[in-house]
Amino acid sequence: MKRYRIAAIPGDGIGKEVIAAGIEVLAALARRDGGFDLAFDHFDWGSDYYKATGLMMPQDGRDQIKNHDAIFFGAVGAPDVPDHISLWGLRLAICQPFDQYANVRPTRILPGIVSPLRHVAGPELDWVIVRENSEGEYAGVGGRVHRGLPEEVATDVSIMTRAGVERIFRFAFALARSRLRKLLTIVTKSNAQRHAMVMWDEIGAEVAREFPDVAWDKMLVDAMTMRMTMKPATLDTIVATNLHADILSDLAASLAGSLGIAATANLNPERKFPSMFEPIHGSAFDIAGKGIANPVGAFWTATMMLEHIGERRAADRLMRAIERVTADPALHTPDLGGAATTRAVTDAVVAAILGDNV
Ligand code: IPM
Ligand code: MG
Repeated sequence: MKRYRIAAIPGDGIGKEVIAAGIEVLAALARRDGGFDLAFDHFDWGSDYYKATGLMMPQDGRDQIKNHDAIFFGAVGAPDVPDHISLWGLRLAICQPFDQYANVRPTRILPGIVSPLRHVAGPELDWVIVRENSEGEYAGVGGRVHRGLPEEVATDVSIMTRAGVERIFRFAFALARSRLRKLLTIVTKSNAQRHAMVMWDEIGAEVAREFPDVAWDKMLVDAMTMRMTMKPATLDTIVATNLHADILSDLAASLAGSLGIAATANLNPERKFPSMFEPIHGSAFDIAGKGIANPVGAFWTATMMLEHIGERRAADRLMRAIERVTADPALHTPDLGGAATTRAVTDAVVAAILGDNV
């Protein structure tokens, strides 16, 4: 029996609800499979922890989770803690030192879910966005001086390194190669940003030569929003900088029906550090505690975590169970226009897993 240790960090708001639901579903999968076991260690880090201690996680927090096989993360952000504190104190404080430089965001229209795009029913929209997750606009470089004075100055400097850009392109080309269409779109803004984005383009073209079997093209980020909405079927794998992909992935999730179903993996592909898996929806304080958060984003995220640790069969089974459940509109939560609860959706996914037919 293979045994994996997972660090669960539910964080804030609905993160707590969807991670609890995800753990139930993962336990059902392990029971059904019989070949592996998941041991969860729970960490109560986040904004409540911050209000009690002044820190989002303990000083030795990373040491406590560095030997786990994966991190299952909920959401971070609370109305009464500044966002840049909660983000840099927890999520980025894990992603950056653990060098989780490849952020992977798959998007598909799941059965039973209606895209806001007219004429788009399903197979036309099947993308995976690769987000550079360690530098670029989120490098954290900048400063602010002369606060409040007329001469106040503030900068956020985007940093691109050859090593960082090469490795994300290699990752994206390899991922594109593993998919049916072997098609990669590189997103850029090198018409306006004439240094780093031009280097980005050049390195993209260089790395492309290592992948002659992958077709690729290049899109300016503004035009990309149009292509995603008007010609979704022309896209497959997409690679973009940290901020561009942040924005495009919200668009992608909405075009696929709801932010509530979208999943993310923050990968350290070399496996020197654990990778972190999280739904992309955030803490959603407006619905927290009501029991109506959509757990599908956390479930889809769990499939990515299972795949990463090597439990492909369980990952595929969970994806089939998710699709079985989304196909039934009576099991749609309010973000999808339904009235189902987190509990009902979780029970249905568990039942599908333990039933004979997925
Ligand atoms: C995401 C989120 C975060 C980001 C927020 C919470 C800072 O929007 O994961 O896409 O911008 O990285
Ligand atoms: Mg985002």
